[in-house]
Amino acid sequence: MTDIHSEMILILDFGSQYTQLIARRIRESHVYCEIHPYNIDFGEIEKMNPRGLILSGGPSSVHDEDAPIVDSRVFELGIPVLGICYGMQLITKLMGGEVAGAAKREYGRASLVVDDASDLFAGLGGTHTVWMSHGDRIEKFPQGFESIGHTGNSPVAAMRNSEKNFYAIQFHPEVVHTPSGAEILRNFVFHICGCEGNWTMGSFIESQCAEIKARVGDRGVICGLSGGVDSAVTAVLIHKAIGDQLTCIFVDNGLLRKGEREKVEEVFRKHFHINLIVIDASERFLNKLEGVTDPERKRKIIGNEFVHVFDEESGKLKGIDFLAQGTLYPDVIESVSFKGPSATIKSHHNVGGLLEKMKLKLVEPMRELFKDEVRELGRELGMPEEVIGRQPFPGPGLAIRILGAVTRDGLEILREADLIVLEEIKAADLYDKIWQSFAVLLPIRSVGVMGDERTYEQTIALRAVNSLDGMTADWVHLPYELLGRISNRVINEVKGVNRVVYDISSKPPGTIEWE
Ligand code: XMP
Repeated sequence: MTDIHSEMILILDFGSQYTQLIARRIRESHVYCEIHPYNIDFGEIEKMNPRGLILSGGPSSVHDEDAPIVDSRVFELGIPVLGICYGMQLITKLMGGEVAGAAKREYGRASLVVDDASDLFAGLGGTHTVWMSHGDRIEKFPQGFESIGHTGNSPVAAMRNSEKNFYAIQFHPEVVHTPSGAEILRNFVFHICGCEGNWTMGSFIESQCAEIKARVGDRGVICGLSGGVDSAVTAVLIHKAIGDQLTCIFVDNGLLRKGEREKVEEVFRKHFHINLIVIDASERFLNKLEGVTDPERKRKIIGNEFVHVFDEESGKLKGIDFLAQGTLYPDVIESVSFKGPSATIKSHHNVGGLLEKMKLKLVEPMRELFKDEVRELGRELGMPEEVIGRQPFPGPGLAIRILGAVTRDGLEILREADLIVLEEIKAADLYDKIWQSFAVLLPIRSVGVMGDERTYEQTIALRAVNSLDGMTADWVHLPYELLGRISNRVINEVKGVNRVVYDISSKPPGTIEWE
């Protein structure tokens, strides 16, 4: 079996907002890489035995008093190094060059003239648009370095030390605004570091299955399915490794979208033949939520109830030692980041407390993957596009999309309206292009007319946003015709609604959900 970690590129993070993108670009070329804080212990680095090292960009200036600095022993490992932006300035400073504050900050697109296309820029002679974002610039070369590319504002936009195999670039090759950036990174990992590219989803599946089998032995694993992509792919991967030793639990909390439970049953039970326990706990959840209007209390109640139900149900199973979770790489990086964990989507996680309570060990086979890779993995495992391409859906479900108290009537109205929204968004071929699109039921009534009758009914708010990670979001400019169709259908088909409004707020200051 191929050892998929045998050729690893180590990225040391100096805090750039683009660091994860560097890793994604490299993974896209089938080379495994990991991101670690710049101040990771040198012994750890040696143990990783990387094929190459990348020093990321970052918000600091090398002139800052507390500028982050890498352990200079990394330059004696005998492996190629690529410094990007701050990484370049750091190499310059540490190797006897000079960095000066540029007269003009260079931010945005610039034209890079390649002066030497023999290695880092192989196949890229001529001029290329690149993305710059820096204040400092190289004034005097560090020892043994020469320029291999320049821009109007940066006489040294790229440099190399051929003897040591060290490279440094002032621009960001990882962002889409540098169209040839992926090629530059490929040149680094393949030509300069000598990687072959054995990180493929096929080999990942093979190696993870072996690892899961070895870890789990003949014991049982449970996995809670949420209906979302991460838990679904986790379950299918583990099932591939250990078959019937896996049991999945799906809790119907009564707050799901229309047809969701049936879909889960169809995919997991009928298609993949996975042991699946479906628990209809709607009554329990809805009773507990009765009269509760505070959004955070709703979340707490739903989270607690989920843990109770899951605990009760798994307690009935024999021989379970492991709990499977769909933890992804960004969560892992976040928790070790030198900046300290920041608030992420996962702070909403609904299974907190589950582990301590159940004394189970964790299986997290996707800890190394980015979200895009999870989708690719799902495809490789033969999962339907419908499951893999799903928009995110919050754990507390429709409870936080019914403003105020959650009632059975409200749920019925919202389910119907939400289905129409989804149908129309899909029919307009926009579902895959939008981060999230959904309906929200507002707790107000307004006057309308229907035929000769005066109505006094509720309002549906329509929300459609684009986002990269849920942390910030923009409302989507849906075509007027589509808005019109959704509005007509909701008002005509959903009893109890006489008005539809479109939410045109971005995040921040609005949030994606209304509660
Ligand atoms: P907000 O509303 O905070 O949402 O802008 C950001 C993203 O997180 C999702 N979300 C949740 N997910 N449990 C979850 O699992 C929650 O309680 C929760 N609240 C919000 C939201 O759908 C969006 O994708």
